[in-house]
Amino acid sequence: MKLFQKNKRLESPEFRGDYVQEDPVQLQIETSSLCNLQCVMCPHGIKGFLWKKEDNYLTHAQLVKILNQFPHLEKISLQGMGEPLLNSELPELVAESTSRGITTSFFTNAMLLKRQVVDTLMDARLHRLVISLDAGTEEKLAEIRKGADLAAIVDNVQYLISEKKRRGSTTPYVNIMFVAMPKNIETIPAVIELALELGVDELVIKACSGMALIDEHDWMLSEKDFDELMVSVEKGRKKGLQIGIAAGVNPLVRRQGKLRCQWPWKKAYVAVDGSVTPCCYALPERGVVFGNVLTSDFSEIWNGPKYQSFRKELREGMPAICKNCPDYSQFE
Ligand SMILES: C[S@@+](CC[C@H](N)C(=O)[O-])C[C@H]1O[C@@H](n2cnc3c(N)ncnc32)[C@H](O)[C@@H]1O
Ligand code: SF4
Ligand code: SF4
Repeated sequence: MKLFQKNKRLESPEFRGDYVQEDPVQLQIETSSLCNLQCVMCPHGIKGFLWKKEDNYLTHAQLVKILNQFPHLEKISLQGMGEPLLNSELPELVAESTSRGITTSFFTNAMLLKRQVVDTLMDARLHRLVISLDAGTEEKLAEIRKGADLAAIVDNVQYLISEKKRRGSTTPYVNIMFVAMPKNIETIPAVIELALELGVDELVIKACSGMALIDEHDWMLSEKDFDELMVSVEKGRKKGLQIGIAAGVNPLVRRQGKLRCQWPWKKAYVAVDGSVTPCCYALPERGVVFGNVLTSDFSEIWNGPKYQSFRKELREGMPAICKNCPDYSQFE
């Protein structure tokens, strides 16, 4: 079965060395550290967890300074633990990235995805837009994504899809991203119907990370939940919807606790203040900072002592910061 396939390259000692010759090919950069929602599974919704940084928005000048240090970058995701559309410079940041030939995307809660924003993002040649939606009814959305308004999100996404059609454009590729949890899994049939109605390119079902912030019963599906989910997924696929599922959604895979993560070898996370961390789960707010890309050179950070010892720790066991991470059992 595909979910259980071994990836020999990922498990090879050559791939998982302490020292990494090549630069990362993928970056995730936080462009806003503030959010307009409070989702139950997100550090933003866990009251008092995220501190207020002094500079909450990444500027164009800062992005240029960062990108100049990554000549081999293939992909970038312009969001971290906040809502990127709160940053009014976002279309400019997207344009800077796409003009360098980097495949550019970001995740959004879509509350601020108004018509003029859609137009400027399309003009900036955004490649992929991920709409985070963890519920298919107003009632469930109010419980999971506190502050969200389903009618407004649907209206915004409808305009996006119609504008793509009007321009005859295949981009941005539009995903709906659903974080699967015991408390929202019953809403998946409604999300599938909505995705079909909207005509998005794909629905992706993602595993929830506990991040040592929420209890296991809030992020781990039961086997029954997972089986029911798969029945809905098969029905959705038969109706023509493309649906991707992260391996870690399956509780059996998750319990295997195998390391599938590529982050410290291939990709990096940069917080809005320039702090570099291995990924969006090992956050500066949780005490992980390997260096600062706005005040020092990334090449010194990437193979500095903190990165090297973290790679060793991750290869040999599970660092405390990675506990409950779905990438510890994730597909590629
Ligand atoms: C942190 S948000 C930032 C961007 C934007 N605010 C949004 O909601 O799309 C990025 C993605 O992480 C997801 N997310 C939040 N908490 C998570 C968790 N505990 N485990 C896995 N994904 C999570 C969100 O649902 C969203 O799809
Ligand atoms: S909208 Fe995004 S950043 Fe904001 S609380 Fe929800 S998941 Fe977190
Ligand atoms: S295992 Fe998870 S928490 Fe640890 S570095 Fe990889 S993605 Fe981050």
